[in-house]
Amino acid sequence: MEKDLQNIKILIVENSEDARKFYLDLLKKYNFNVYEASNAKEGIESYKKNLPDIIITDIIMPEMSGFELIAKVKQINKNTSIIIISAFESIEILHQAIDLEVCKFIKKPIHWDKLLNAIEMLSKDIKSKKLIKFQKNLIEKQKKILENRVENEIEKNQEKESLMFQQSRYAQMGEMLSMIAHQWRQPLNAISASAMNIEIENSFGELTEESIESNIKFIHNQIQNMSNIINDFMNFFKVEKESLEFTITSLMKGIEDLIGAQFRSRGIELILNFKEDITLNSYKKEIIHILINLIINSRDAFDDMDIKKNKIVTLNFKDKRDTFEIAIIDNAGGIDENIIDRIFEPYFTTKEQGKGTGIGLYMTRSIIEKNLSGEISVRNIDSKNGKGVCFIVEIPKG
Ligand SMILES: Nc1ncnc2c1ncn2[C@@H]1O[C@H](COP(=O)(O)OP(=O)(O)OP(=O)(O)O)[C@@H](O)[C@H]1O
Ligand SMILES: [Mg+2]
Repeated sequence: MEKDLQNIKILIVENSEDARKFYLDLLKKYNFNVYEASNAKEGIESYKKNLPDIIITDIIMPEMSGFELIAKVKQINKNTSIIIISAFESIEILHQAIDLEVCKFIKKPIHWDKLLNAIEMLSKDIKSKKLIKFQKNLIEKQKKILENRVENEIEKNQEKESLMFQQSRYAQMGEMLSMIAHQWRQPLNAISASAMNIEIENSFGELTEESIESNIKFIHNQIQNMSNIINDFMNFFKVEKESLEFTITSLMKGIEDLIGAQFRSRGIELILNFKEDITLNSYKKEIIHILINLIINSRDAFDDMDIKKNKIVTLNFKDKRDTFEIAIIDNAGGIDENIIDRIFEPYFTTKEQGKGTGIGLYMTRSIIEKNLSGEISVRNIDSKNGKGVCFIVEIPKG
């Protein structure tokens, strides 16, 4: 008998002590783990305790029959292999054995070869089932480990993403503050001029009640204007929960309101081009965010390249069938071909420390792909305005 079949556990249930001893000695010779019981009740106890793979049992036993024992064992584990050894072989007994899915029926007096053959066959079957179970468990365990690893990675990734989102938000808030400062400059100058007016008129003794009133009204208007600017920016920072209908005109106004003043003061011409006004159903603020990210990169490129004149950023809006396309074109010199493939990577920047974090384009692409279901691409161009970069953003219309 093969060596690897031998750690099979066998329970012998037999009320004749002589017969039991005989089986026991025989099977032990083959190194099986053998348990014994002198009646069916003891057999059940031993079964529960030792969980044998095979039970060899007699049928006719006092108190409880072998069939009752088999029925109980099958309730616990219906795959347990059973060998019946009996002196009786009526049709009724055979039927009952078949009903209980007994594996082998061996008639007394026993041919030992037959018994050993039966055990060997069952053992092989049990072994291969055990092997399959072991392999299944192993696969399950490995699957669990992999799943855990994937989950951990996803979690880590989400943490990283949210950290980056936070960083890019701070960076954008910094930009917003500088935009507000630019937009406040004009009303602040106007208020200061109005105050100076009052001062001059007063010093000449010409300050009339009407003049005071009209100057105060003017100052109130300017303050209201400044307050509106703050509200616009605050509003812009609220997260957009659902897509809404809006027109290209309103999108462009949003960009102009946020960044127009700053660009004019830096001598950058912002050209917004579109042939016909279309209505989109999308996330307007997100789109403004990404466009501002791109436009600000152009602004920085003019600074980096120390370009003083003829600074132009053009946004071309194009209506396609199911999508709309925005081309963001500048003439700030372009991107080195050696690094152009890397600019969307997180933390990739060519700017000095403190000037850029390198997450602007990463976040821009992530917003376009994940939130807007769109695409972004980049290439260097050489237009009539000079060499520069062209980003193409394509987004579904709704
Ligand atoms: N219009 C452009 N012209 C020239 N280079 C550009 C342009 N846009 C992006 N780049 C290059 O791509 C790099 C990555 O841009 P990205 O917006 O991701 O980061 P950043 O601007 O350096 O920093 P951040 O946006 O996080 O403040 C930039 O450092 C710059 O080298
Ligand atoms: Mg940037």
